[in-house]
Amino acid sequence: MSLYTRLIRPVLFLFPAERVRNFSLSLLRIVGSTRFGEWFLRVFYGYRHPSLEKEVFGVRFRNPIGAAAGLDRDARLYRQFGALGFGFVEVGSITTRPQQGGSRPRLFRLRRANALLHRMEEPNCGLEKAVERLRRRAHGQKVVVGANITASRHSAREFITKECLRPFRSLYQYVEYFTINVTALIGSGESYTPEDRELVESILEAMFDFRRGQNDYRPILLKISPDWDYPQIDDMVKILIDTPLDGLVVSDCSSQFSTALSPKEARRTEDCVLSGAPLLERTIELIRYVCSKMDYSYPVIGVGGIMNEEDAKRMFEAGASLVQCYSAMVYEGPAFPGRLCRRLATPTKSK
Ligand SMILES: Cc1cc2nc3c(=O)[nH]c(=O)nc-3n(C[C@H](O)[C@H](O)[C@H](O)COP(=O)(O)O)c2cc1C
Repeated sequence: MSLYTRLIRPVLFLFPAERVRNFSLSLLRIVGSTRFGEWFLRVFYGYRHPSLEKEVFGVRFRNPIGAAAGLDRDARLYRQFGALGFGFVEVGSITTRPQQGGSRPRLFRLRRANALLHRMEEPNCGLEKAVERLRRRAHGQKVVVGANITASRHSAREFITKECLRPFRSLYQYVEYFTINVTALIGSGESYTPEDRELVESILEAMFDFRRGQNDYRPILLKISPDWDYPQIDDMVKILIDTPLDGLVVSDCSSQFSTALSPKEARRTEDCVLSGAPLLERTIELIRYVCSKMDYSYPVIGVGGIMNEEDAKRMFEAGASLVQCYSAMVYEGPAFPGRLCRRLATPTKSK
């Protein structure tokens, strides 16, 4: 047991989840805002080893462990997360205009399950602020930054493509890759229609068109949902094979879950989605499925349920090139990415 799980977590968990989230991230921002603070985080928490370095979709990663979308939703903390040991940070989801997200309380812990329930609905600072913050990135900075972009959930369907294209164009020169998050914008299960597939194609087509006119190439990935049926997933794999889409992020929070909640808890957490340990098996099954469908020839970022190095290894074995985590940061604390890297690194043989 680490110092965090033994002493710090029991105190933090006495307070509401979102308040603790905001407090911890403010602290991290303040500590890491100076050169000395960033150096301190890097020395105290970070871990580097040549065996962890990797090139995926043309981008060089110093390690394959990433901060999942939602952790740095306002693009304020990518330097600090990099110093903690993450090899890449997916900022966002970013929408054209700032949005408040769902009504509070909207983030809950399921302690015994190592899971979270939330109805955040992508609160974020909006495109203008995100551009301002990402523009300040120092040249040659080591942590890779990707932008996760989406449209506001309240957008009329005919505006969704435009709403996704704007952040894509404005952030193009400031990040290394893009993830398009359509999971909240299109139907799933029985409510998935051919129009949903057309919408995804139209968003991506607009992005491919813009990218063709640029000097630099930015990979584009599509984030899929664990709640989608196989025909819907097959459609996305087909898009991956038939178009210049570069890869998939597998997968997201789930609204299909059965957890033992009291009637009061069930009422409080209505409309929430689940993240954390209970997602692991479904995520691995999906990674295996999409990788075998596309003959292991496109990169997949695995995300959902990673709590330790065994979980991460299983995702790599299933076919993921990179992995990301969110809930593990809540349950395992700031040392998690560095510890994961240390345990995944191959020891250098001494002569
Ligand atoms: C509070 C919270 C907010 C999130 N916000 C976003 C988001 O804005 N965009 C997105 O694509 N995914 C978002 N996610 C999903 C995560 O990126 C990730 O896919 C999911 O949490 C599963 O990973 P985990 O089991 O490691 O937490 C969010 C997750 C949580 C718990």
